[in-house]
Parts: sequence; C-alpha cells; structure tokens
Amino acid sequence: MPGDTGSMRETASVRAATGDLELAADGRTLRFPAGWLRDNCPCPLCLDPVTGQRLHDITDIPEDCAVATTSDEPEHIVVTFAPDGHSSRFSRAWLTGHALDGYGDSDPRADGKQLWRKADLDGRIPEGDWRAYLENPGYRADRLRDVMRKGFVMLRDVPVAAGTVLTVARTFGYVRETNYGALFDVRVEPAPENLAFTSSEITPHTDNPYRDPVPTVQLLHCLRSAGPGDVGAGGESGLVDGFMAAAILRDEDPEAFAVVTGTMCSFGYTDNGTELRACQPLIHLDPRGRVRGIRFNNRSALPLRAPYDEVLAFYAGYRRWAALLRRDELRVEFTLKPGDCLIFDNTRVLHARTAFTATEPRHLQGCYADLDGLESTVAVLSREPRSWTAR
Ligand code: OGA
Ligand code: ZN
Ligand code: ZN
Repeated sequence: MPGDTGSMRETASVRAATGDLELAADGRTLRFPAGWLRDNCPCPLCLDPVTGQRLHDITDIPEDCAVATTSDEPEHIVVTFAPDGHSSRFSRAWLTGHALDGYGDSDPRADGKQLWRKADLDGRIPEGDWRAYLENPGYRADRLRDVMRKGFVMLRDVPVAAGTVLTVARTFGYVRETNYGALFDVRVEPAPENLAFTSSEITPHTDNPYRDPVPTVQLLHCLRSAGPGDVGAGGESGLVDGFMAAAILRDEDPEAFAVVTGTMCSFGYTDNGTELRACQPLIHLDPRGRVRGIRFNNRSALPLRAPYDEVLAFYAGYRRWAALLRRDELRVEFTLKPGDCLIFDNTRVLHARTAFTATEPRHLQGCYADLDGLESTVAVLSREPRSWTAR
C-alpha cells in the first residue's frame, strides 16, 4: 500500500549476471557486490563474537565468490555464497544503512563541520564553563563537539595553576609529549629557541608542521595576561578557520589552490637536542579533493626544493594563500584572560597573537593532544545508555 512503509518490506534477490545481492527497498534497488558482502559477514566464523573484530583476511575469501541464494526473514536477509556454501545473515537495517547506491561524496570527517569567517561567529566564540564541563557529561560533549564543528572552544574559569593545561587535555584524550616536554611555557625568555618565547607578533600559523604526524589538537591556557586591564598591552589572540580560507582560495584562485595543494613543502626545527623535519603540502587534500588539513608556519619553513619553474609558480600561489590568511574578515580576535583555556584543531584552525609589552609577565602554558581521542570521547559521551554492552 503506497505510503504505508510498514507494508513496504524489502525483498532480496540475486543479480544473475554478477552474483551480487540486490535489495528492493522503498522503490529503489540497492546492489551489494558479493565480495564486499562476504567480507562484511557478521557470523561468528567471520567476526569474533567477543571483540567484534574480523577474523578473516580478504585473501581467505574465494575470488569467484558470488551470492548463490537469498531468503527473506522479517528482520534479516540470509545469503548463501558460492562456491563454498558459506551462509551469512544480514539485518535489513544494516544493509539499508550501508547502501552503496546513492552513497555520495559525503565525508565522515566533514560531517557537521561549520566553516566560519569572523562575522559568522556573531561576536561570540564557542565557549564553556570549566565547572559545568567537569560536572555535566552532556555539556562536556557539546563543548568538545565545538572543536569538531567550529575547530575550537574556549573554556573559562579553568584554575589558574601551573600544569592545569594537562588536566584539561586529559579530560578528552592523551597528552602528546614532544621535545618541548608534556607541556610548554609561552612567555618571554632570555634566550628563546622559538619566536613564541619572545614578545613579538606571531602571524597565523599551525604548530609543529615539522612533525609527521603533527599534533592534531593544541591547548593554550592563560596564567597571566600581558597587561592588568588587557587594554593596549597587546598579546591578543587571533584565530582563522583554515578550511574556510582554503575554500575561498579554491574559489578565487584555482591556480594558486592547485600549486599550494600540489607542492611538497619542508619544515624543520633544530635545537641542541632536536632535529625535526617533515615534508607535506600546505593544504592537504584527500583523494576526492576534499580539504583534510592545513599546515602553515612561516617561521619553520625550509627552503623549497623543486625545479625552477615549479618554484616560480609555487611562490605566486604561496603569496596569495598567505595574504588570504591575513585577511581581517577571516580572523576572530580576543584576549586570553587568566583561567581561559583554548582548545583547537591544529590541522584546521591557525592561531596568531599580536606583539605585547615585554615588561608585563604574560604567561601561557600549552600542550598537544590528538583529535582521535577527542572524537572518541564525544562518541562515547553521546552513546545511548548502555549501548556499549550490546555489541
Ligand atoms: C604558540 C603560540 C601564541 C600566543 O605558543 O604556539 O603560537 O598567544 N603562541 O602566545
Ligand atoms: Zn561468515
Ligand atoms: Zn603557535
């Protein structure tokens, strides 16, 4: 009966020419290649019932595997495979939820990402209160989701005590220890090994482009601001959404976008005990051409090694990209106050600060962590009650 979805049960059949499974569902035909289907068989011979992990390797599946028969059950489709007679039972919900026909270019990592210019934030940066964040798991998930969607969140009223930045990182993931230690102090040093440890301006950049992989999350926790009234003393922070900037570059100057995404750039960092090098494009695309990561840091860029013509073309694009990243309309600015802790996606959001008065004891503590842990924490906090027991 049309419109009565309850009676519109899918029916399964074998596609004679290919041996694939065909499922008629809601007026559409969903095709599932036999090899794919067999690889995803959920039976206890194929998936370990305790861990849920796959027991076979693709080479264990007969190359000429084909769907031989299907039978419809109320909630499942039972499939037998030739040539070995293996039997699999797929839930209808799982099949329709994993349909290949109609699967577009949706990018699981891009889901829900909200690219922004300064004006899009309406003068309000995503923020949360530390106490509520600690006490309320739903609130904590929402604040961390801001990092996934907008690329950053500011936690307010985090205790102004040295080392607390590590406590913040451990609420959602694991601290990525580096040659700078578990945490690093950002303050004016007499013999700085990094321009961050001076009172100079720092233009928009991502941190540690000389590592592969880069730390994907960065935290900056303010212990002291540059000036008592926060006015005129400088040291204001600026953030730029690199994914938005990349979308603008792709739109405004496809040629520049092509060289910036297509040129391998080297970055390096050297001190007494460290010699780091990494070589990656400034904008990293996935095989479908979607922006996956930004790496940009003029301070640690090494001389570009490429044929003469490529260097010429690169420099034109590089200039356009750098100029775009400096546009005021892209940059949101604020002053970190003691107790503020900024958490941001270091593969997407570029950070900057203005110069400040060296006589004032501005002091931040920073550390690195990773997005996989943050995303896992959000996913676990968002689970239905007890769903994890139901594997
Ligand atoms: C850094 C940095 C910004 C600041 O330490 O990575 O960019 O506000 N610092 O001092
Ligand atoms: Zn199986
Ligand atoms: Zn930095």
